[in-house]
Amino acid sequence: MNPFHPARRPARRRTPASAVLVASALLATGTAAVAPAAAQAAPARSAAQDAAAPAVKASTLGAQAAQRGRYFGTAVAAGKLGNGQYTAILDREFNSVTPENELKWDATERSRGSFSFGPADQIVNRSLGRGQRVRGHTLVWHSQLPGWVGGITDAGTLRSVMKNHINTLMSRYRGKLYAWDVVNEAFADGGSGQLRSSVFRNVLGTGFVEEAFRAARSADPSVKLCYNDYSIENWSDAKTQGVYRMVRDFKARGVPIDCVGFQAHFGTGGPPASFQTTLSNFAALGVDVQITELDIAQAPSGAYANSVRACLNVARCTGVTVWGIRDSDSWRTGQNPLLFDNNGNKKAAYQAVLTAMGGSAVRG
Ligand code: XIL
Repeated sequence: MNPFHPARRPARRRTPASAVLVASALLATGTAAVAPAAAQAAPARSAAQDAAAPAVKASTLGAQAAQRGRYFGTAVAAGKLGNGQYTAILDREFNSVTPENELKWDATERSRGSFSFGPADQIVNRSLGRGQRVRGHTLVWHSQLPGWVGGITDAGTLRSVMKNHINTLMSRYRGKLYAWDVVNEAFADGGSGQLRSSVFRNVLGTGFVEEAFRAARSADPSVKLCYNDYSIENWSDAKTQGVYRMVRDFKARGVPIDCVGFQAHFGTGGPPASFQTTLSNFAALGVDVQITELDIAQAPSGAYANSVRACLNVARCTGVTVWGIRDSDSWRTGQNPLLFDNNGNKKAAYQAVLTAMGGSAVRG
């Protein structure tokens, strides 16, 4: 039996509204003179155009990524928004923001049915007001999960709690966010290629991932729905293969999924040689891919440049997010894995990333 197949059958897929519109336009005029909508739209950039260096060289990460049709983002902590150096770098360099902890379950629903959004709203409103896109992180995750959820043993209760959590968070920001990490880190490390043990898998069964994505699509039909995980960058790893099989199965059965996030928390060696292959193999399934939490121990320039290049070389890799601004902001204490030092100065890796995107290096 397919381990990702829940008890419920997927809804029958309907004819897209756009196809209906074109068909009725043709009928109404009784002629083929009305061009299909797709032919009137601007042509998509070809892979060759996409790979070509842009004419204008920008001097910040966000602006230069935009030249390449992508975003460059960072994790943001609400508690740091009062720091002028932090916000100056944030607003100068980044055009996408992921709240680092503020949208997690333990921050938003500490007790059942009691929701709080103060710090999350602060980040979301500030970012949207400045034209920065926002990635929602994250709805269903075994970690930073309040004890009251972890203690649920009844499937009906957990199902309704999970759906209510998804629905409440997504409804609050409906139409405003770029993407949501609907399910985070559901796969086990090591060689099993299976879902890890968690209250969700153990009580709801392996179909919980599909149930979460279906609930998410109902809550906000416009936002991109992502599966996000770490240690899925190396193509031959069992964990990568497990996620790949799940996404392939979802696409085959019409389960709503739009993107896969590769956290990319790397050691000093940086990304595995197969990283670009992994990104393009996932993209070939018909999903966007993104680098969602990039940081690299000691921030070697070459490793950073390779990570960003892997994304640029894959047409459906829509953007890169680093997991913090200055080394002092990083969760990886003592590893100095980010693009700015403790004093907010650009590190060598910053210049390497900007150059890899075709930008002009400006010191400072
Ligand atoms: C980390 C945050 O950066 C820390 O502040 C927090 O204490 C723990 O979580 N994978 C994820 C992120 O998806 O949410 C994690 O963020 C890092 C690993």
